Amino acid sequence: MKNPALTLPRKWPRVSFGRPSNRAVILIGLAAYAIVSWIILNSPDTPPVRFRINPVRLVEASAVLKLHVVGALSAFGIGAALMMGVKGRGLHKRLGYAWVAAMAITAISSFFLTGLNGNQFSWIHGLSAWTIIGLPMGITAARRKDIAGHRKQMTGMFTGGMLVAGLFTFLPGRMMWSIFFGA
Ligand code: HEM
Repeated sequence: MKNPALTLPRKWPRVSFGRPSNRAVILIGLAAYAIVSWIILNSPDTPPVRFRINPVRLVEASAVLKLHVVGALSAFGIGAALMMGVKGRGLHKRLGYAWVAAMAITAISSFFLTGLNGNQFSWIHGLSAWTIIGLPMGITAARRKDIAGHRKQMTGMFTGGMLVAGLFTFLPGRMMWSIFFGA
């Protein structure tokens, strides 16, 4: 018989990333981020890292870049709440549409941003294209009551699109990194 004294109450919401492939994407993304960051930080051209918050580059950035960051941070917050399994069908639906709008703003605005690959699109624009195709597919699946398909689409975009693209914006040298660790 279970000893009730040993059964800890579960206070934390359960975060589910759905399929094991989503967890694999997060682990591969983290490993790739760690390796690329290590290479950049060990390059002789990289200035020493010291923590301080300096949002000047973001304050002086273009309106489209500010829109991108606001969209991305909103999508991150709303997406995290949805992944924790907010209760109530109505609330899930309202938050879901808000998340779709925030992701669409993030992805569409990113097509007006370049820099990583000179003036050309970079591999991250591939994630933006995937997001623009995936969002209507995820909505269509929900409307058809294809819950498994809806969950697969949306959790895949949150992990692969949001978490991985968001993590890579914090690569040493990129703007988000320079806000916290720039010279
Ligand atoms: C927390 C999440 C995110 C933050 C804070 C963020 C922030 C930024 C910032 C500051 C830039 C321009 C400066 C730079 O390249 O360093 C940028 C560029 C970009 N972002 Fe994001 N972003 C986020 C999520 C996303 C997501 C989810 C996508 C795609 C679905 C995305 C796609 C892009 C693309 C394609 C670029 C242009 C990259 C290039 O220069 O080629 N971002 N992001």
